[in-house]
Amino acid sequence: MKQDMIVILDLGSTENTVLARQIRALGVYSEIHPHDITVEELHALDNVKGVILNGGENRVVNGVPVEIDAALYSCGYPIISVDYPSSQCQKRFSALPTDEELKAFVFDECEAEANWNMPNFIEDQVELIRKQVGDKKVLLALSGGVDSSVVAAMLIKAIGQQLVCVHVNHGLMRKNESESVVEVFRNQLHANLIYVDATERFLGKLEGVADPEQKRKIIGGEFIRVFEEEARKLSGIDFLGQGTIYPDIIESGTKTAKMVKSHHNVGGLPEDLQFELVEPLKQLFKDEVRACGIELGLPAEMVYRQPFPGPGLGVRCLGAITRDRLEAVRESDAILREEFARVGLDKKVWQYFTVVPDFKSVGMRNHARSFEYTVIIRAINTIDAMNASIERIDWDVLQVITDRILAEVKNVNRVCYDMSPKPPATIEFE
Ligand code: XMP
Repeated sequence: MKQDMIVILDLGSTENTVLARQIRALGVYSEIHPHDITVEELHALDNVKGVILNGGENRVVNGVPVEIDAALYSCGYPIISVDYPSSQCQKRFSALPTDEELKAFVFDECEAEANWNMPNFIEDQVELIRKQVGDKKVLLALSGGVDSSVVAAMLIKAIGQQLVCVHVNHGLMRKNESESVVEVFRNQLHANLIYVDATERFLGKLEGVADPEQKRKIIGGEFIRVFEEEARKLSGIDFLGQGTIYPDIIESGTKTAKMVKSHHNVGGLPEDLQFELVEPLKQLFKDEVRACGIELGLPAEMVYRQPFPGPGLGVRCLGAITRDRLEAVRESDAILREEFARVGLDKKVWQYFTVVPDFKSVGMRNHARSFEYTVIIRAINTIDAMNASIERIDWDVLQVITDRILAEVKNVNRVCYDMSPKPPATIEFE
């Protein structure tokens, strides 16, 4: 790491990530570490310039307040505390410092340089990846989601053809999604990409399965099996690329932000397929991952795409999946996305999609009675996906979307808008 770093020690604050982001926003890299870090471990970190003891409401565990090792006070770095009763710090704050107070600490006392930026981060990671991987090969499951796409772009920059990407199309992707993965990674970035069209295999396994959890289990399990089969066909692969990001590593809002062990395997792969992990995004927050993707030259549509569940359209084609309803979900979703982009709602709304329930209703088509499916539109805003409220879409916009779905999507005679917040509803229907 070339970048200077301010270390935050978690002493029970619920605002560790807020503070880390505040420091990063000043252009200085910051990491959260557990309160029981030793002086040796602290010295082993690269380019530490200062330490913040970040206390808070979770400091008392089982009636005993957690403390740092007193030896840390003589670690040689400037130390301040926030909501932590220590008389040995340079300065004590009772609440999060303001930007001005932080600047005074970071730049004047710690003499840190504002050198945390994406080009520097990428340069560092490329060097680290090359050092870790040498002339070996790295395997990556490239779903086309933000994290796996950015990892792929980073690895392509670092090791080019030593990266083998596998894209499994489970047949539940959105319209043109797999095609765009192939276009961007194989044709534009010249990645070594194995494309597996497993549509028939997945739809076969899912036939007649109506229970949402069972559907998820089948999709997840089958995904691992397809990936494993591809991995076994390749030889000489020692590493597995993974899109782990910083929030996956820190347990936010807990007493101590423990670091997760980085050398574990991808959940579900058999024991004899052990790889060492390469996780170049593990220090980044989500918005930083997106900035990194843009810096690496990925298209904005890929980097700013809305969240999409792993089981894909499989959980939006409600109940037992049928091909005609899956087609109706895919086509109506594509229309919704097109129209949202046309009026700029794609940049405003957190998540938006359509679902097709497994019932038909009576309608009229060409002067005759029809019996067709219903499309439900959902558009929600949320910060953390725990609570969500609906977007109040303009009636005219909704009308255009409705008219297009009714005219262009086969087997659909009715369109509804879901007004339900979470809770009591969830964001998805299954
Ligand atoms: P719910 O429906 O629980 O969704 O309110 C919260 C968020 O999680 C996404 N979601 C999933 N993501 N695998 C995923 O990777 C899943 O099985 C899954 N189910 C829900 C959902 O799209 C929303 O953003």
